[in-house]
Amino acid sequence: MSKNESKTLEPEIASYKPCLTALQEGKRYFWCTCGRSKNQPFCDGAHAGTDFKPLAFIAEKTEEVLLCACKHTRSGPYCDGAHNNLQDTYEEATADEIAAMSAAKLVKRDAQNGGKAMLDGGAYVLTPDPAQDERNGTLGWQTLIGAKDNARHISLLRFCADKGSTPWRCHKGSDSVLFVVSGKCIIDIEDKSFAVETETGIYVKADEAFRIHAEEPITIMAAICPEIDKVGWPDSPNGTFDENFPERRVGVDHEKANVMADRFFQVLVDDLVGSREVTQFIGEVPLSRAAFHRHLYEEAIVILSGEGMMWTENCRAPVKPGDIIFLAKRQGHSLECTAPAGLRLMGAFYPAGSPAINY
Ligand code: FES
Repeated sequence: MSKNESKTLEPEIASYKPCLTALQEGKRYFWCTCGRSKNQPFCDGAHAGTDFKPLAFIAEKTEEVLLCACKHTRSGPYCDGAHNNLQDTYEEATADEIAAMSAAKLVKRDAQNGGKAMLDGGAYVLTPDPAQDERNGTLGWQTLIGAKDNARHISLLRFCADKGSTPWRCHKGSDSVLFVVSGKCIIDIEDKSFAVETETGIYVKADEAFRIHAEEPITIMAAICPEIDKVGWPDSPNGTFDENFPERRVGVDHEKANVMADRFFQVLVDDLVGSREVTQFIGEVPLSRAAFHRHLYEEAIVILSGEGMMWTENCRAPVKPGDIIFLAKRQGHSLECTAPAGLRLMGAFYPAGSPAINY
């Protein structure tokens, strides 16, 4: 193959990061597919003489989106995270970036602020205190992320179920995405029973009642979207199980994991099991510090194993297993893993999408 032919077949990588772009409803755009445009992410005619043509599209609504600049997306013109696999290692913080952030303040947990270590932009790290749990029978719970913490859509609750059966619980108008932190139990969703174990994700649709049967005390995290004002405690299931999504469990399966250079993630709960608002994933981070980045979603993270440091623009706080992290939409951050064996985490975010997409 001649040099010219290969140039025609392979797009150039304009950037390893997508372009944050403000689209206007009804306007027609021409997204550059060749990577040669100097007006990324849009075409400037530089594809002339190649087989590439711009991709025309009309914006369905006025919004900010991330348009692909690596030109390897399979969801053009939108970024699908493909840029993460164009290099051997996940993008890590550079020496310049590390030096620039060296003065970031080490923030301690503040007892006056519910035990949170407050970072920039309302982001925080929290080590849950079981003494703060609310309780109904065998079920204890605590809201770790919610509207009072400036979460606009998502909330994160930690459930601790004692041995036995919990009361029925119902989140009216809100989907719930559960995650078993460790142990085994049976979760009833309406008249269906699901056996679940460590690191299983479970989807409970809005208005469905659920309860937990545990042989041993068990901890379950629940991302609830939007946050509920009032919990329902029905005496019995109310027959609203959505049969369109009969299987609600997703476990860890390395066959389904997405490799991103030297790290991986697996989406557990998403729209395939019915969850349209929230995406839940599990990820593994090697000994490293990610490059500073942002997402167009609001995110709750639970540290499952390993240790590290969460960095925002001017602050940092250490994290360890059991800690949770809240990040507002667009909050710049970098998670550093300081454990030689790596760090494992569960993330849940709104709006639903891919955890590989950042800018
Ligand atoms: S300049 Fe890249 S498609 Fe036109």
